[in-house]
Amino acid sequence: MDLFNDMPFSKLEIVKDAYLLKAYALANDKVLITDLESIISQAPLRHMMTKMGFTMSAAMTNCGTLGWLSDCKGYRYAVKNPLTDQPWPLMPASFQQLAILAAAEAGFNDFKPDACLINQYRVGASMGLHQDKNELDIHQPVVSVSFGIPAIFQLGGLTRADKTIKIPLEHGDVVVWGGESRLYFHGIAPLKMHTHPVLGAYRYNLTFRKAG
Ligand code: SIN
Ligand code: FE2
Repeated sequence: MDLFNDMPFSKLEIVKDAYLLKAYALANDKVLITDLESIISQAPLRHMMTKMGFTMSAAMTNCGTLGWLSDCKGYRYAVKNPLTDQPWPLMPASFQQLAILAAAEAGFNDFKPDACLINQYRVGASMGLHQDKNELDIHQPVVSVSFGIPAIFQLGGLTRADKTIKIPLEHGDVVVWGGESRLYFHGIAPLKMHTHPVLGAYRYNLTFRKAG
């Protein structure tokens, strides 16, 4: 099955080894959103705490063999959902296929995602600049898929102080970063008020990684 390769999308190299695949996930958004809703019903969204005791403004859950967690002990991946003491829901085939094909489109063949972090942002929510560096294998890229209302993705460099490029992301857009840009700081600016016809005043982000 090749659901993603025959729809129009455009590819932009943001910086070396980081790509915006504009509208890449649009072709299959209905299936992806149905699968997303099923995951959220099995593993409800929750606001995690940072080590410093702050509540994160995005609500999160996971699917895949590993799920990303933050609490008073810090950031890490875990095989079980601490709220249910059950494994995270399986990564749906639609998610896997999207992530693997998007990675290949950006030049990263053989991506083997085992973790998908799901972030839900309401209007005003944001994510501060950070690096994705809890994964064992940083030779594999990060694939990030956006649904719902628009957001501004900020992509910087290897230090927090580096200037950031601001990339507007809309429903169906995919960003892939790896190689030289794999550890670049990135974040999401506070979301402005918008409404999406299916998802309401929310943005959902699926971030795929090879974590273990
Ligand atoms: C993240 O860095 O985990 C999320 C980025 C996004 O929401 O686009
Ligand atoms: Fe991140």
